[in-house]
Amino acid sequence: MLEEVIKFLNPSAGKCVVDCTLGLGGHSIRIAQALGPQGRLIAIERDAESLKKAKENLKDYADRCDFINDDFRNIGRILPERGITEVDGFIFDLGISSFQLDDSRRGFSFQSEGPLDMRMNQNELVSAQDLVNSLTENELMKIFQEFGEERFSRRIARSIVFHRPITTTYQLRDCVLKALPMSYQRQRIHPATRTFQALRIAVNRELEALETALQQSIEFLRKGGRICVISFHSLEDRIVKNIFRSSVQTGKLQLILKKPLEPQESEIKENSRARSAKLRVAEKI
Ligand SMILES: C[S@@+](CC[C@H](N)C(=O)[O-])C[C@H]1O[C@@H](n2cnc3c(N)ncnc32)[C@H](O)[C@@H]1O
Repeated sequence: MLEEVIKFLNPSAGKCVVDCTLGLGGHSIRIAQALGPQGRLIAIERDAESLKKAKENLKDYADRCDFINDDFRNIGRILPERGITEVDGFIFDLGISSFQLDDSRRGFSFQSEGPLDMRMNQNELVSAQDLVNSLTENELMKIFQEFGEERFSRRIARSIVFHRPITTTYQLRDCVLKALPMSYQRQRIHPATRTFQALRIAVNRELEALETALQQSIEFLRKGGRICVISFHSLEDRIVKNIFRSSVQTGKLQLILKKPLEPQESEIKENSRARSAKLRVAEKI
């Protein structure tokens, strides 16, 4: 939904925009072009490898970019440290990128074999492997229930505890498959999807990061400034919807989109991962 984000964010010469999820810089390149040499782009990325690639991709616009290898939950520190008190726009394009998902060494995907890692920031101490091999059955069950909305969370947690140690993505995938009834295994969406999503959210503490960052970003927005959030599952979208709604009630924001925007069929055909994307946009008043 790049074109939609650019339309709603409307970056223009001399403005200051924060890309909280730089990735490889797809959004940032377009934003940096529009900001011009007098503008300022604060580009935050938790993953050092992605940041390195994004820097190369944005090298023609380096004069207006601050590249920051940090977690967007720290926005309340990151901006004042750079003397920034007001911002014209924020973009959050949540989750992980294809670059991360497709790299089997990162352990995000059940479709290729790799170490069960899932850390977006390789300097963090706790990986998915640490969680699956150390938490109790109840603790694992809670993760799958809360972050995966998984119907069979108890059975999956029990299967993990029975089969551990689990060190690879394929071991976890097989462990999930063994735990599920046959009928559940023939679904359109792979039956391990929710378990992998839940573990990734837990490892990276994604939901609390989003909540903290959104609250803080709203405070930094200048009057008329906009905040665009693309989420990829209902848990994220619920957080965005609720924070926007309470900020509307307290008179801080107005909604630019009453309902979230979903990608066009053509975009989903090109990139099946876009199928669950939802864009919400709000403006500071
Ligand atoms: C969907 S990708 C963004 C793709 C990007 N918009 C582009 O056009 O290339 C999400 C990126 O956000 C990063 N990310 C996720 N949570 C983060 C956080 N809490 N702080 C900083 N970066 C984060 C991920 O590492 C990933 O690279």
